Amino acid sequence: MLSYRHAFHAGNHADILKHLTWLGVISHLKQKTKPFVVFDTHAGAGEYPLSSEQALMNREFDSGIARLENLTPASALLNDYQTIVNPLWQAGIYPGSPVITTMAMRGQDTAHMMELHPTEFPALQKNMSEQNKQTPTSANVHLHYRDGFEALIALTPPTPNRGAVLIDPPYEQKSEYEKVTQSVDAMFRRWHNAQVVLWYPLLSDRAKDKVLACQTMINSVSKLGKTCFSAELTVAPNTYDAGMYGSGVCVVNPSWQLDEHLTQAMKEVCKAMGESTHFSLNWLKHENS
Ligand SMILES: C[S@@+](CC[C@H](N)C(=O)[O-])C[C@H]1O[C@@H](n2cnc3c(N)ncnc32)[C@H](O)[C@@H]1O
Repeated sequence: MLSYRHAFHAGNHADILKHLTWLGVISHLKQKTKPFVVFDTHAGAGEYPLSSEQALMNREFDSGIARLENLTPASALLNDYQTIVNPLWQAGIYPGSPVITTMAMRGQDTAHMMELHPTEFPALQKNMSEQNKQTPTSANVHLHYRDGFEALIALTPPTPNRGAVLIDPPYEQKSEYEKVTQSVDAMFRRWHNAQVVLWYPLLSDRAKDKVLACQTMINSVSKLGKTCFSAELTVAPNTYDAGMYGSGVCVVNPSWQLDEHLTQAMKEVCKAMGESTHFSLNWLKHENS
């Protein structure tokens, strides 16, 4: 059963790390005029009104995107992010990965977005049809009401085979960590040059089983023989009862200098978000090592 609703968390610290990384990947793909194909395996509703009952429940955006409101970015990546996010934030909306992708991609590029929740999928359809009125890419944005893990195998390798995958499961079930590993492994056997951005939560020891499952997942993905790094943002000390004290992204086949661009952007983010916020980036594997 799917119960996770991203509206409760929209615009929080995890969204900032994940969406900056994803935008960094897309920005690099855009350096060539050749088209690319991107996949969003767990798309959510597309965008989130911050005045909704869900968003206002814990106001997670207050300690996230709201902290960046008055920032004048020095980093090009953060500037790209602000250019997309700020006008929507002014309108009381936080864009999810589907809207960010659609606003960043060009007319020649293609996106496949998967969502399995029976009410999130119609919301995604509605939000994206409104969104697509303003962009030239609507014909190339494909929304799928299906399992993102299954679709990732069924729809890859794409033509052309330049592109990237965002994997952002809710991890409600411990089994999702293992599913990610299996899907990424199977996908790379079909599409060896895909770039992957895999988001994961940093949970305190209260959720020990999930902590171990997550470590196993990152360890397994780093052993697939591809260059990869992990980048983590923590927003609280890792005490036993902290719950989710931060999150990370594991980036496989990262584009050139993504590590530097992300680090520059996240330094500014951490400064704006306050003293308890820390960013780190670690290389897990270089392909030839
Ligand atoms: C963390 S949210 C996605 C947020 C979105 N990627 C963003 O950044 O705006 C995870 C979503 O995955 C959906 N979901 C859960 N299991 C799924 C599956 N097997 N396939 C596709 N979607 C799934 C949930 O309904 C939820 O909307």
